Amino acid sequence: MAEFRLPANSVVQPGKTWPAPDGASRTKRVHVYRYDPEGEQNPRLDTFNVDLDSCGPMVLDVLLKIKNEIDPTLTLRRSCREGICGSCSMNINGRNTLACTKAIGDFDGDLKIYPLPHMPVVKDLVPDLTNFYAQHASVEPWMKTSSATPPDRERLQSKEERGKLDGLYECILCACCSTSCPSYWWNAERYLGPAALLNAYRWIADSRDEATGERLDELQDPFKLYRCHTIMNCTNACPKDLNPAQAIAEIKKLLVLRRS
Ligand code: SF4
Ligand code: SF4
Ligand code: FES
Repeated sequence: MAEFRLPANSVVQPGKTWPAPDGASRTKRVHVYRYDPEGEQNPRLDTFNVDLDSCGPMVLDVLLKIKNEIDPTLTLRRSCREGICGSCSMNINGRNTLACTKAIGDFDGDLKIYPLPHMPVVKDLVPDLTNFYAQHASVEPWMKTSSATPPDRERLQSKEERGKLDGLYECILCACCSTSCPSYWWNAERYLGPAALLNAYRWIADSRDEATGERLDELQDPFKLYRCHTIMNCTNACPKDLNPAQAIAEIKKLLVLRRS
């Protein structure tokens, strides 16, 4: 892979403008961040005047229309187009969100679309999530047990125990939260960030998991956990309405209780 030379949202030059097609009466001006790390140029902001009468209703529809009909070199991630896979996360008019679940009609005026902030950019709207995924893997997001597996049934949970996982298991790893967190921007190498910490707590809170002490030991660290200063950007950014800030607070509480 090419070496990354510029972070997202660094100096951005004005780019090319594509006019609306002849006869279009309802158009949207869409500014899109473009960057090719293999080229010699700074990032630029291209402007596409898109005919909304021949376009689907969501921001992802606009981007796919641009890619399919105007500029096939536009690069973005997407898969499910219904808020499940987390691939199409990006910054739309200043907020990290999913392009497939945001309606064009939710935005007055122009659309301004950037990659998730403060991440290296692979190309255009695609950030490099290598570190983000490695941090997720580092919390060992799977059930760890030491007791013998019951021979004749699953490991059971009461309804109440299962209920404690609501608001945690739904995370789609879109990275909207971590890339909206100022602490993560400045310490992404050492602070795990809200997404990885929410997933760490998802297993700490699971009554079937038998590695709670070990998991808490791993998080008892001035950088991995305690760089969170409860700024709450993460919770405001989550497109699945999860509350990573609260999950982080629960971990901190458990660490305090363990000491007392
Ligand atoms: S609450 Fe913590 S994780 Fe969330 S944005 Fe603030 S510092 Fe970041
Ligand atoms: S907690 Fe929300 S914003 Fe963060 S990665 Fe999971 S789904 Fe995305
Ligand atoms: S395409 Fe899967 S979440 Fe948007």
